[in-house]
Amino acid sequence: MIIAPSLLSANFGRFASETVRVDKAGADWLHLDIMDGHFVPNLSFGPQVVRAIRPFTKKFFDAHLMCSRPEILLEPFAQAGADQINIHVELGEQAVTPLLWKIRSLGKKVGLAINPPTAIGTVQPYLDQIDELLIMTVNPGFGGQAFIYEMLPKIQQAHAWRRDLKLHYRIGVDGGINYKTAVECARVGADAFISGTGLFGERSLKRAIAKMRKLVLQNALANGLDLNHRPNPAEQAAQS
Ligand code: DX5
Ligand code: ZN
Repeated sequence: MIIAPSLLSANFGRFASETVRVDKAGADWLHLDIMDGHFVPNLSFGPQVVRAIRPFTKKFFDAHLMCSRPEILLEPFAQAGADQINIHVELGEQAVTPLLWKIRSLGKKVGLAINPPTAIGTVQPYLDQIDELLIMTVNPGFGGQAFIYEMLPKIQQAHAWRRDLKLHYRIGVDGGINYKTAVECARVGADAFISGTGLFGERSLKRAIAKMRKLVLQNALANGLDLNHRPNPAEQAAQS
């Protein structure tokens, strides 16, 4: 399983030391929310910032592009040190396939994100091409929003498809994830937990990550879920 604090909830005046704090706190990934003021009604930061924090940790950088034209950003983020790049399925069929292919060709892990109002069936054609399905559990744009419980059946569906189709993509959840909602998501099959306010809002980031991990694992085990990850076929093919 993966716990990925989102830099969006860190202190924007101290990205370098916040990156070091995430590194030392036992996180698995650092989630980087990239907003363009168009796909979502907010701006965050760009590839230069990612490049600037890259020397402060070896952790896996998970870039989440909430951007209308990700095609102009893939190379800059790949060069800046992103390890995985997530694009949104809402960009439409014409755009999604070449974007997924391009991310893979840059040697990066491939993520596909889906917004709350979008039907889960929209991602089905891409499931064998991705390393992570990122299910948005808030409408993206801002940290600190309340988890949308109606997203739980989407996670359940993504989990059923993964099992039935014998695929190995991760099921990430992003938005409003705290101890309670992480457990609810784990019970229905999520295995990557992106959390901004829920983790950075606690006094000790290290204790918060450890507590979330413990709660998730307990509940996954109780429900017979295996949170160990295996690479998917597209990933194996790219490596060989
Ligand atoms: C939503 C972002 C999320 C979010 C996480 O716009 O993609 O990564 O900010 O923050 P919290 O955990 O505060 O909802
Ligand atoms: Zn995000």
